[in-house]
Amino acid sequence: MTTHNSERVGERLGGCDPSTLAAQFSTPLLVVDEVWLRARMRRFRAAFERDGRDASVTYAGKALLIAAVARIADEEGLFVDVCSLGELETALRGGVPADRCIMHGCYKTRDELAAAVDRRVRHVVVDHESEITALADIARDASSSVDVLLRLNPSIAAHTHELIQTAAPASKFGFSLADTQAIDAVRATLARPELRLSGIHCHLGSQIRELRTYADAIDALISFSETAQRQTGARFEIVDVGGGLAIGDADGSAEPTPEAWADELFAALDRRLAGSARGRPHLYVEPGRALVASAGTTLYRVGVRKRLPDGRDALIVDGGMSDNPRPALYGARYGVSIAGRESEAPTGSFTIFGRHCETDRLFPDVELPDPREGDLLAVRDTGAYTYSMASNYNRFVRPAVVLAANGRARLVARRESLDRVLDLDVTEDA
Ligand code: LLP
Repeated sequence: MTTHNSERVGERLGGCDPSTLAAQFSTPLLVVDEVWLRARMRRFRAAFERDGRDASVTYAGKALLIAAVARIADEEGLFVDVCSLGELETALRGGVPADRCIMHGCYKTRDELAAAVDRRVRHVVVDHESEITALADIARDASSSVDVLLRLNPSIAAHTHELIQTAAPASKFGFSLADTQAIDAVRATLARPELRLSGIHCHLGSQIRELRTYADAIDALISFSETAQRQTGARFEIVDVGGGLAIGDADGSAEPTPEAWADELFAALDRRLAGSARGRPHLYVEPGRALVASAGTTLYRVGVRKRLPDGRDALIVDGGMSDNPRPALYGARYGVSIAGRESEAPTGSFTIFGRHCETDRLFPDVELPDPREGDLLAVRDTGAYTYSMASNYNRFVRPAVVLAANGRARLVARRESLDRVLDLDVTEDA
């Protein structure tokens, strides 16, 4: 284990000067360090493919999917997970071949299933009973076939925020292993010639630090594949354990390394398969946050400094919960500094608010060196689940995203224009 902060190099702005970036692209701005992002992707692949291990790393696009980032994942040899038509089209627009895309979703619309068939994605991860029929019918009508993984719910409550557990007994995802749903799904899939059943999948949740939880998932998935083979003859080539690897947080909590994750998973597979005639299945993992979070830094402009009635010092920045809802949703903490003034000694503790018309407390109790209105605030590790969860609350526009490398930055997502937002309204005179 290493701590997150000790892995940090520089400011993760791709060698760009924050005030130049802010002047050129305005704020709030998400800056993604391309060199760092590619290095993370390579490191995960190296960890999982070491010593001839049979594994594939998939980038869970929901963490940050814009065409340029999808392209980078593809160039780095990762598959791309998508969970909506919008994500699929974005990946394709980024040049990711459809057969490198994996289609997820707990309720895929007919259009999404049809697009998955039409585009010929690599796998559709089927979540529930009626989807088996719907997908097979669409494939039949298109005289096509689809490769399928079945998503299972092994009832493992990962140690993480309740809102980001996805394989607990109360989770909505996948076929329950607690009754006959999963084995029935295998039979139903095998019964449809349009479907090719390649494997099984589960995703435990997000921000998982306890690697042993993944060993529990491997045990559950391998046990199920043995049962399925005995009862139906099905052989699963692929076992996909999802994503969820945690990153360290601003309090300095440790983060598991990709190498430790890979070692844990392969050790669990070997332990579980020892003495069995079965070879190891092909292992898939689907990290999102652990690949992209630490590549991202958000720049905000401090617009207001004031003293609150309780005596605390507060700052208000030019963004807020519309560009990063994670503090409000999950109590997420971030590392915050004043860009360009990192070496100055703190003069006090500040609570940083966004400018939305509610509490919108982004970063509580941050030690800063006498911040001034007009300063730029740099918020680290914001690459994951910020831009992808951005909204137009209070009719704010979504921020711009730049990719920065070797002292240069290029715009990869334009700042949304207010006209675009206003144009959605149907007015009587229109
Ligand atoms: N695979 C599947 C099927 C998933 O649903 C997810 C995330 C991942 C992989 C990637 O998980 P990661 O490695 O990024 O933890 N909005 C929340 C996170 C929700 C994650 C949902 N699924 C947040 O901001 O923390």
